[in-house]
Amino acid sequence: MSDKSVKMEMPGGAHDFPVIDGTVGPQVIDIRKLYSETGMFTFDPGYTSTASCQSAITYIDGEQGILLHRGYPIDQLAQHSTFMEVCYLLLHGELPAAQKLHDFTYTISRHTMLHEQLATFYRGFRRDAHPMAIMCGVVGALSAFYHDSTDITDPEQRMIASHRLIAKMPTIAASAHKYSIGQPFMYPDNSLSYTGNFLRMTFGVPAEPYEVNPIIERAMRRIFILHADHEQNASTSTVRLAGSSGANPFACIAAGIACLWGPAHGGANEAALNMLREIGTTKRIPEYIARAKDKDDPFRLMGFGHRVYKNFDPRAKVMKATADEVLKELNITDPVLDVAKELEHIALNDPYFIDKKLYPNVDFYSGVILNAIGFPTEMFTALFALARTVGWVAQWNEMISDPEQKIGRPRQLYTGATQRDYVPVSKR
Ligand code: SDX
Repeated sequence: MSDKSVKMEMPGGAHDFPVIDGTVGPQVIDIRKLYSETGMFTFDPGYTSTASCQSAITYIDGEQGILLHRGYPIDQLAQHSTFMEVCYLLLHGELPAAQKLHDFTYTISRHTMLHEQLATFYRGFRRDAHPMAIMCGVVGALSAFYHDSTDITDPEQRMIASHRLIAKMPTIAASAHKYSIGQPFMYPDNSLSYTGNFLRMTFGVPAEPYEVNPIIERAMRRIFILHADHEQNASTSTVRLAGSSGANPFACIAAGIACLWGPAHGGANEAALNMLREIGTTKRIPEYIARAKDKDDPFRLMGFGHRVYKNFDPRAKVMKATADEVLKELNITDPVLDVAKELEHIALNDPYFIDKKLYPNVDFYSGVILNAIGFPTEMFTALFALARTVGWVAQWNEMISDPEQKIGRPRQLYTGATQRDYVPVSKR
């Protein structure tokens, strides 16, 4: 901690506020006493300059395009790690030794099944329900089934709930897909890897054996790792805020899923592929670039731009390389990938995008890969939610165990009517 402070000259005199250093990244001005000392609030819609918490899980340098999970660069984890290893790292802070990784993987595999009653929840949805609507409903409903792991003051119960959520998300997401196509749900097969099990539950059928394609398994594992956590993004902040009231972990994750669904956030992967398909050919790219730059047109290039990255999203780099790799290895040519690459090239040489530091983000290329693997576009954000669950529960655990944590309750700049007396309807 630094002994520095900043002096704020106010109408009633000067006030000193402490400056705190992190291990890396911007310092913060501790303004917790600002209101009590000055009667004023800060004003920061969208929290563009606000640190909501302290965290040791993920560090992003948006200018340099750096993403670290517990200090490890995302490209190294995507290259060398497994999703179970990244889950352990995010939850516990260190890469696990072999035995710990084995035990963790075994624990997770023992929670992959859903209570049989949960299958009836799916029957309540129309077959064409969006998978994210199903994910919100079914994950929220988990709190009705697991009362033995909702005492958030008990670290043991918090970890059991975290394991259950990480383990069951693939089963829930795969079942949402099966429900939409009218096929029977597949039970988990714990002899497979986390990713292989998910692929089998999604694409396998009870009528015949399912062979996990190692190319697809590797691509899926990389996609899960790239989506695992991302500092205090909108959905993680939603989980933290929900958790700050003491809500049970299943309700908090359901809140995170709801927030992730938005097209400005996790819904962008579905929107980006739909946009690339709508553009259709490289010849139409200038038309869409012009629309993206037109202030009067609400159209934005989906999969482009980021609140934090003002350089290449390091995940997009890995995703782009993976898209090339998977399509080549699966011997698939997809004109959408050519459109994506040409769109990226044109945009990155256009002054509008250069000036606003708009680069491809994690969602720009992911849809090309997921489409090549065979996922319907509506499933893309459900896959993002599946992978981000470990980040959400890691951040939730960190918040609950933070001695300084309290219920999140922002204030406001009030611009409404000042006090006035009621007027009976006969006099209006
Ligand atoms: C994710 O926070 C995270 O970490 C999220 C995430 C994670 O892992 O959790 O990384 C996942 O959500 C990635 C982002 C996915 N969303 C999209 O791809 C949707 C398209 N992108 C935009 O909607 C936008 O870039 C945001 C929402 C991502 C970021 O918006 P900001 O930070 O609020 O920036 P802004 O809207 O204020 O834009 C700044 C300027 C604006 O122009 P001016 O008003 O200053 O003239 O850039 C323009 C915007 O109009 N702009 C774009 C643009 N994104 C921003 N113009 C065209 N196309 C775009 N995509």
